[in-house]
Amino acid sequence: MTVHVLSVASEAYPLIKTGGLADVVGALPAALAPHDVRLTTMLPGYPAVMTALEKSQVLHRYKDLLGVEARLVVGAAGGLEIIALDAPALFTREGGPYSGPDGKDWPDNGLRFAALGRAAADVARATDLLHAHDWQAAMAAAYLRFGKEAATPSVVTIHNIAFPGYFPAQIFPALGLPPEAFTIEGVEYFGGVGFLKAGLQAADAITTVSPTYAEEIREPEFGMGLEGLITARRERVFGIVNGIDTAIWNPASDQNLAAVYDARTLRARSENRRAVEAAFGLTESDGPLFCVVSRLTEQKGMDILAAVTDALVAMGGRLAVLGSGDAKLEAAFTAAAARHPGRIGVHIGYDEALSHLLQGGADAIVIPSRFEPCGLTQLYGLRYGCVPVAARTGGLADTIVDANEAALASGVATGFLFDGVTEDGLSHALQRAITAFGHRERWRSLQKQGMKADFSWGRSGQRYAELYKRLLAPSAE
Ligand code: ADP
Ligand code: GLC
Repeated sequence: MTVHVLSVASEAYPLIKTGGLADVVGALPAALAPHDVRLTTMLPGYPAVMTALEKSQVLHRYKDLLGVEARLVVGAAGGLEIIALDAPALFTREGGPYSGPDGKDWPDNGLRFAALGRAAADVARATDLLHAHDWQAAMAAAYLRFGKEAATPSVVTIHNIAFPGYFPAQIFPALGLPPEAFTIEGVEYFGGVGFLKAGLQAADAITTVSPTYAEEIREPEFGMGLEGLITARRERVFGIVNGIDTAIWNPASDQNLAAVYDARTLRARSENRRAVEAAFGLTESDGPLFCVVSRLTEQKGMDILAAVTDALVAMGGRLAVLGSGDAKLEAAFTAAAARHPGRIGVHIGYDEALSHLLQGGADAIVIPSRFEPCGLTQLYGLRYGCVPVAARTGGLADTIVDANEAALASGVATGFLFDGVTEDGLSHALQRAITAFGHRERWRSLQKQGMKADFSWGRSGQRYAELYKRLLAPSAE
């Protein structure tokens, strides 16, 4: 029998994306379909979602959803089966999903995503299971738990525990929850309301996006104040590594590339490298071309990379940076490009097509994250023969095989991992990559090995399906 799951999130590729969450939410329905699981994706009715909806029908009208008028609209968009929460007072705005054109968070984000959770709980009652992603959707599990009817089972997935969805206690009365919900066992979190915490406390199962991160978040360094909860509920915490959409990320058919290629035609990458050089104003050289496709934040270790740009150039490397984020880091990379014309090029902004070209044309991708729940850019890099140079943390540690002597000798290495996000650690890893790049055979072997690895959704899709089915088995509770 087909299991029907409501997957709730604040982003889904190709409709609305600020990061990896969107890629994963957009890919899950196809990943689960072979396992007899039908996933309907519920999103806020942002303008980008409402205009993309086809064959839409109104499922329900709310006169008063936490104080606003709203409709649930079902339809198809971007290849997904969608339920949109059309609440113009909350979601019909210019700007991003979480912040306005000025870059500041919307002041009513608490109410916006509580409303999403409240409505999602209503919809989930008509399905077999709720699957909520990150703090923006996590309240759905709490509303189910504190609802009057028997609750639908729920899974909450942590894509990044560093975003807790914390709001001061004054928000509580507006949430429409019973007073008994405001306890440490409920939604209360450091004196206010923690949306992620509320969901994690309520969920029947918690997943996160790699096995290593599932372990790491039991520690204060990574758990961000939720390590106690994660440890207490550890028997319900599962690490399932993300897959990638191998139709969208396929170097043999990618329309964003100047030249398509596969593991046997790696030479064709040089045409893409030239396109990257042209796009970033770089001059040719024998050394490797490193790239960055990232939010420019401290989580991603971008401050450390910015600090070693002079060293990277001195070692014979070049760098193309595509990203946006902290103003200070944007300025640091722009200044590095000005210091090293032809060697460092920077594109501040978000550009999906250019991100594909970089993976297809750069020699290596640098990912010095302080923590990384899963990370997708290393997976795209591996598939594109763009060798990852990354910190040994979270999903990076789970998906990259470091090019140590043993791994090189047996031909299983796929990239370079380093411990501790420091300038020395990163410089050393970059030097290792530059040296390996000088040995053509060795570099080809790294590329080919990465391209051979299977990061499709196959196994992980099956693991989600097994988890859903376990929660639905009569003996589950
Ligand atoms: P996170 O979600 O923490 O930002 P991930 O590695 O999981 O990190 O996912 C990032 C996603 O966003 C990838 O699909 C990556 O290609 C994309 N991305 C990040 N920055 C940019 C950018 N400036 N332009 C285009 N795509 C970007
Ligand atoms: C978050 C994490 C990233 C992960 C993505 C998708 O944005 O920071 O590591 O790959 O979610 O799960």
